[in-house]
Amino acid sequence: VNEGNGVKGLADLGLDTLPEHYIQPREERQCLISSNVEPEESIPIIDMDDPKVADSICDAAEKWGFFQIVNHGVPLRVLDNVKEATHRFFGLPAEDKIKYSKENSPTNSVRFGTSFSPKEEKALEWKDYLSLFYVSDDEAAQLWPTVCKDEALEFMRRSEYVIWRLLEALITRLNVKEIDETKEMLFMGSKRINLNYYPKCPNPELTVGVGRHSDVSTLTVLLQDDVGGLYVRKKDEDSWIHVAPISGSLVINIGDALQIMSNGRYKSIEHRVIANGSKNRVSVPIFVNPRPNEIIGPLPEVLESGEKPIYKQVLYSDYVKHFFRKAH
Ligand code: SIN
Ligand code: FE2
Repeated sequence: VNEGNGVKGLADLGLDTLPEHYIQPREERQCLISSNVEPEESIPIIDMDDPKVADSICDAAEKWGFFQIVNHGVPLRVLDNVKEATHRFFGLPAEDKIKYSKENSPTNSVRFGTSFSPKEEKALEWKDYLSLFYVSDDEAAQLWPTVCKDEALEFMRRSEYVIWRLLEALITRLNVKEIDETKEMLFMGSKRINLNYYPKCPNPELTVGVGRHSDVSTLTVLLQDDVGGLYVRKKDEDSWIHVAPISGSLVINIGDALQIMSNGRYKSIEHRVIANGSKNRVSVPIFVNPRPNEIIGPLPEVLESGEKPIYKQVLYSDYVKHFFRKAH
C-alpha cells in the first residue's frame, strides 16, 4: 500500500483520490456519523480549581466516561511544545521514521506505525502514530527519537500530578482508602504516550482517522489541537458528541481497566476520529495503565457491600493482547 512512510507519505504525494485500502465499510464511514450527531450536547468541562471537583469527576466518569479539564496545572508551553514536537517527528524524511517501524525499531518501547491493527483490518485508517512506552527516563533518553523525546517526557512528567488527583477522586468513591504501592501498580503501573498524526485526506467521507474503539487503559489524558474531529458515543445510545477543542484543556476518558475494576460503575466509552479534508491534525494521548503483570477484576472494596462481580479476573497483558488481536 505504501512504502513505510505512513499515511503522511501518501498524503504528501498529493493524491486526489483515496487509495482503495482506506475505504471503510459503509457503516463505519464518517458521513454516517453526521446523521446522528447531537449538535447541542457536549461532554462535561471540569474546572480542577473548583472546590467540588472530586464529585464532578466521578459523576462525569459514571455518566459520560469522557470529560475535559481546565486549570489542570500542566503549563500551556508544555502542551504547545509536545504538539510542535509531534509535527517535527512526522515531518522527518521517511528513512528517519521507518527506523522505528515494527520491523526496524531497535526496541519494543518505540513504534512508528500506521492504522490500528493493520494486519487484522480490512480497511486501513487515515492516521500515523509514534507510540512510546515509558520504562525509565534513562531508557527514554537513549531510545526515543531525539526530535520529540524531551517534549514527550516533559508532558508526561507535568501531567503526573493531575493524573494522581483524578485517580484519587475516582477511587475514593469506590471505597478505596489510599493509593499505596500495590494500588499504584494496579491503577497506574505503566504508561505509554502516543504522538498521533492525521494528515489532510482527499476523500474524508470514505474513511476514518480512527475507527470506533474504547481504550484499554485505566484512564487516558488526551491533548488535541484546534482542528477537532474526535467524537464520543453517548452512553447506551447510537449517537455521537463532538469533543470541541478548548485551547489549553485536556480530554480525560475512562478506559476498560477502570470500568472493570469499578465493576461497571465508571464507563469506558467508544470514540472515533473523523478524517479532515483540509487540515492536518495532531493529538497526544497519555495512556495510564495497570502494570502488565497485574490481575485486574472488580475491586474487593467495591464488592464489600455485597455487589456481584460482573467481570472475571484477567491478567492485564492478556486483556491487551486480546484487544489488539482484533480489528476495530
Ligand atoms: C484515539 O482515541 O485513538 C485518538 C483520539 C484523538 O486523536 O483525538
Ligand atoms: Fe482512544
